Amino acid sequence: SPAGDLAHQILHALDKKSPLLSSEAFPATPSTEVKGALDRLASRDMVKYETIDREEALLEPEGEQIAANGSHEARVFEALRTAVEGLTIQELETAIGDKNVVKIGQGRAFREKWISKTSDGKFKAAKESIQDTTKDQMQTIRSTRTYPDAKMLAELKKRKLVRTQKIINFKFEKADKFALKIPEVATDLTADMIASGSWKTATFKGYNFKALGADQQSGALHPLSKVRSELRQIFFEMGFQEMPTDKFVESGFWNFDTLFVPQQHPARDMQDTFYVSDPKVADMPRGEDANDKGDYKTYWDNVKEVHQNGKYGSIGYRYPWSGEETRKLVLRTHTTAISANMLYKLAQQKGPDGRPPPARYFSIDRVFRNETVDATHLAEFHQVEGVIADYDLTLGGLMEFMDIFFGKMGITDLKYKCAYNPYTEPSMEIFSYHKGLGKLVEIGNSGMFRAEMLESMGLPKDMRVFGWGLSLERPTMIKYGISNIRELLGHKVDLNFMRNSPAVRLDKE
Ligand code: PHE
Repeated sequence: SPAGDLAHQILHALDKKSPLLSSEAFPATPSTEVKGALDRLASRDMVKYETIDREEALLEPEGEQIAANGSHEARVFEALRTAVEGLTIQELETAIGDKNVVKIGQGRAFREKWISKTSDGKFKAAKESIQDTTKDQMQTIRSTRTYPDAKMLAELKKRKLVRTQKIINFKFEKADKFALKIPEVATDLTADMIASGSWKTATFKGYNFKALGADQQSGALHPLSKVRSELRQIFFEMGFQEMPTDKFVESGFWNFDTLFVPQQHPARDMQDTFYVSDPKVADMPRGEDANDKGDYKTYWDNVKEVHQNGKYGSIGYRYPWSGEETRKLVLRTHTTAISANMLYKLAQQKGPDGRPPPARYFSIDRVFRNETVDATHLAEFHQVEGVIADYDLTLGGLMEFMDIFFGKMGITDLKYKCAYNPYTEPSMEIFSYHKGLGKLVEIGNSGMFRAEMLESMGLPKDMRVFGWGLSLERPTMIKYGISNIRELLGHKVDLNFMRNSPAVRLDKE
């Protein structure tokens, strides 16, 4: 192998002279190759070496030009020195033959007081002779590849006359086991070696305790999980409590009716929602355990009444509300079904003043929609949902909160657009300007929950609740630069991408 050849070349070179510098002995060989060969010899204790790094100064093309022809200012001076009458700028340009040299050179020559102007505006020399220090510096650097005055060197670099480059050099010499041939080494002790006794004289390769361990194929978090944990952190630091979202199947009651979604609403169509075929319907709504003291019968009646005939100052939708329809089981289409359940439970709670206390809830979990699957949509995705219940909240408060919340994700300059949700009024879609795409992108949906929804639950009239939702997939795809959702979820996912994608910091981009 070439490295083997180089290792033997090193041994032969050291046989004649030790120590040696790689820059002298192997000037044309890349330093990585020299190091590889030296490491091989050093591991056998045949050679020892040290690394000597140094900065080398080299001339840029303009520096070369100055080293050869003099600095711009010196050339201007030189052209004027012999012209007793002085020269106009045009004459000077003709004499030097380079407008740029004249432009820069005359300025510097003035500053150096090498030249001055005559009363009729011509340029003339102001001295007998000058010392062209810049040219001297360029010549020194060209021949010595360094410059004694570090401050001056930095200055010349700034003027783009000189650049520096790191030179790695090795100083190597013979070590204890120096020889001209690299002995065969055994890497393992074998049964044959023991049987034949050859182990007694064999040379064994030393252990390399500095070797990196083999890559361990451990499990890795999915990018969605990484973004989710980042978002959970934001919610927790803002005082939110996580909602229990551990059920994918809901009844129409919780998924739609409690949210004042009418039973004829297109979202409830089989085209949009997955209905469960077995069992088809849920039990009547009830608490999940004995501690739940909610009066679900009254709630059911309120929901029916507010849809069918109107209540709480609302005229309702005025259609015959069906108890059968509301009990149909669906794969939840949004986590707002959970929010409704949590708000109903909140209505049962009594704070110090005997009224439901303010609350902040969030969840991040999977929802299902019977949608046409394409590059950016799947039939299931993750929804990030937040709900804030408090007395006398305002829409302005919601907007300010959104600025803070999305700001923590690094999403700023929000824009709001009027929208419609059956359960919120007003409703606002939230947009943000996406620099990469160069346009406003929708990032979420929000609104103030309607009285029809909240008062049916028994929440006080002056308790306002706002909520918002967004998909987890969207920020994840943006952060990881994924354009097709199938790269993120499903059987086409590249496991190496999952393994190697770093944790994201949403605010660091
Ligand atoms: N449920 C809404 C959606 O699916 C999000 C939302 C939640 C909107 C709460 C307003 C209030 O897009």
